[in-house]
Amino acid sequence: MEKIVSLCKRRGFIFQSSEIYGGLNGLWDYGPLGVELKRNVKNHWWRVMVHERDDVVGMDGSILMNRAVWKASGHEETFSDPMVDCRTCKARLRADQLTDKKGALQCPNCGSKDLTEARPFNLMFKTYVGATEDESSITYLRPETAQSIFVQFKNILEVSRKKLPFGIAQIGKAFRNEINPRNFTFRSREFEQMELEYFCRPEQGMELLEYWKDERLKFYENIGILRDKLHVRTVPDDERAFYSKGTYDIEYDFPFGRQELEGVAYRTDYDLSQHQKASGKSLEYFDEETKQRFIPHVVEPSAGVDRTVLALICEAYSEDQAADEKGKMETRLVLRFHPRVAPVKCGVFPLLKNNPQLVAKAKEIVDLLRPHMTVFYDESGAIGRRYRRQDEIGTPFGITVDFETLGEKDPSLRDTVTLRERDSMKQERVKISDLIHLLSVRIA
Ligand code: GAP
Repeated sequence: MEKIVSLCKRRGFIFQSSEIYGGLNGLWDYGPLGVELKRNVKNHWWRVMVHERDDVVGMDGSILMNRAVWKASGHEETFSDPMVDCRTCKARLRADQLTDKKGALQCPNCGSKDLTEARPFNLMFKTYVGATEDESSITYLRPETAQSIFVQFKNILEVSRKKLPFGIAQIGKAFRNEINPRNFTFRSREFEQMELEYFCRPEQGMELLEYWKDERLKFYENIGILRDKLHVRTVPDDERAFYSKGTYDIEYDFPFGRQELEGVAYRTDYDLSQHQKASGKSLEYFDEETKQRFIPHVVEPSAGVDRTVLALICEAYSEDQAADEKGKMETRLVLRFHPRVAPVKCGVFPLLKNNPQLVAKAKEIVDLLRPHMTVFYDESGAIGRRYRRQDEIGTPFGITVDFETLGEKDPSLRDTVTLRERDSMKQERVKISDLIHLLSVRIA
């Protein structure tokens, strides 16, 4: 993990938030490459969950909502983790993170057994809306995006004219005042979620739970996570929310252990029923065929953007051996991102930076490709070094403009370039006019 964290900072994927002031625990900033990677994950999720489906529409809700939402959803009352204080080192700990030594619980920091009883700690960040800071102006930063979907259910049903089963998808920020943020971005205090609330008839719930679990596994495979590293955990009855009839956790083998990437939960009609009761507004669905009114049930695949990004970086990180300029073997650091999510799709290099014709041709290629993909132009240093720099940030393709491109040796090679593939390091000679098609197919 240390190597990954250091690479993330060195190459501009992820920095500590407010770093020049000593940071703020559990908060992170994404740099130039991190933001591209994150955007590619979100775009792919939106593409397969919304654009490629007839039965899902999107929304983008506000982060602050009426406090009544959090009362009705149960978050104000129960969205808490059990917290324990260590009386010796004064650490505040999540009760489930204590060390168990032969049945005796210990502080994981100092080993002390002098611990307080566990008490609930509400994870929502409280804030005030408007100029007065009193009980009447309290609300919270949302701890999940799901609730705005539930409270807009009726509006969206009306405008979209969808019939059950159908879903509402949302990507957005969520905030939790985690007691112990840890494992880099894995448990943060501010993060992004990609959530789908898929509304259905009660009798469809269990079947759709299986369906969405399978769809979500496919999603991770399609962005380059090996199926062997993904695991489905059936959440046991005593860990499941009381209203859920079934929940799966999709887990990934991170370097720090097997941990949750996403929850897929059958939440029954709990959320809509709660909001109907509390708001006094009907959130029922009218079935035109049976002429019945009822509150739909919901299956929710809820994924974390930041956890997915972290899993992709962990999955991509690799070191292998490759020959340097002089043929000497050296360790090559490569991020083997799936081309679909790679922050930069293609590096473009003139063989020599002091040859105006090579430089002009390379820049022409950059202009040609830029409307279709993210491209990085690099003319400094030996070509091998330039390849290595791109390998390290996971750029899947490299294009080199050389004297053959100018047709100097063999006129039949005029306007061709070498196209290098990151993982195999194989090079092929291709026509410039074929580049857009060749690359677009591979990064789609
Ligand atoms: N609406 C359901 C819900 O929020 P959750 O299991 O609490 O369920 C869903 O959260 C996903 O959000 C998790 O699987 C994880 O990917 C992400 N997530 C939750 N807490 C997080 C945190 N503190 N830091 C980063 N990601 C988090």
